[in-house]
Amino acid sequence: MIKRARIVGTGSYVPDKILTNQDLEKIVDTSDEWITTRTGIKERRIAPEGVYTSILAMEAAKKALEQAEVSPKELDLIICSTISPDQPLPSTAAFIQHGLGANTCGAFDMAAACSGFLYGITVAEQFILTGKYKRILVIGVELLSRVMDWEDRATCILFADGAGAAVIMPSEDDRGIVHTIMHIDGAFTDYLHIPGGGMRYVSSHETLNNKMHFVKMRGNELFKVATRFMENVSREIMEQTKISIDDIKYFIPHQANQRISIAVAERLGLPMEKLYSNIDRIGNTSSASIPIALDELNRAYKLDKGDLILLASFGAGVTWAGVLLKW
Ligand code: COA
Repeated sequence: MIKRARIVGTGSYVPDKILTNQDLEKIVDTSDEWITTRTGIKERRIAPEGVYTSILAMEAAKKALEQAEVSPKELDLIICSTISPDQPLPSTAAFIQHGLGANTCGAFDMAAACSGFLYGITVAEQFILTGKYKRILVIGVELLSRVMDWEDRATCILFADGAGAAVIMPSEDDRGIVHTIMHIDGAFTDYLHIPGGGMRYVSSHETLNNKMHFVKMRGNELFKVATRFMENVSREIMEQTKISIDDIKYFIPHQANQRISIAVAERLGLPMEKLYSNIDRIGNTSSASIPIALDELNRAYKLDKGDLILLASFGAGVTWAGVLLKW
């Protein structure tokens, strides 16, 4: 009998090329000291020319599939979360399905920005629990270096490229996805957005000249909303599952800014050693940030059977989400 949906394999991939804060000092008016103290980021990974989103995604997916001992041909569904797709049409999931050599299973993209991976596993869980599907690949992948305004020091220092993936299958015991919560509030759409290139502001000389194809951010306001909403959703998860912060082995927040992560952890009363962070090395990889962090913990053998892991995200939309895993 299916009791839960469980992550049975994780994988991640970041490009080799490292862009340090010192490198950024040569591109925009900034300093290693400013970036480190305001964000916690020391370096980030940037994909070389010729590498697309689906290529990063497949690297992470192959590792997750290998760990789960699932062949691409056995997949029932592929969910790809990204806001930096290969092309506007077709979906990046289509390139991934073909590139992996998967069967003609269902596959689609999901746009929930930095909450995309948590939205993705929430959707996957439903298909597993109904018994409809048995093997689902969820990927969070971003190539944000391509949508950065490299003259805007407030954004180009934050975002980076990378991919993380998980294979989700039925579990007959209580290990797996314990609880999920998704939220969105479209009142904040202009806090973080790429205005151009859709049907509202169709690509034109004007949208190009006005840099409307790059990420625009109201960082200061976003900081406050992100902190509050990630705290709130973490509390919702704990209240609804009747657990306390002491029961959590690791808290993995979306890696947006180390100051946000620390503020959320402090408000929750979480001991800092339980806060997982890789933002110093990886930067903000949006959809990819939580699955990369989860994969790092998993591959470092830091997760034991039965551990409770709390995941919380926040991103453009604004979206925010929480997931509780029993490993
Ligand atoms: N280097 C040096 N100075 C910079 C800078 C940089 N890279 N970026 C901005 N500044 C300057 C600003 O121009 C401003 O100067 P001024 O006081 O002369 O006007 C000053 O630093 C303070 O800017 P402010 O935006 O108030 O800084 P901050 O402490 O809020 O930090 C962010 C900026 C972007 C790091 C922070 O707001 C943040 O992380 N916000 C959340 C962003 C986020 O998480 N986004 C993704 C969500 S998924």
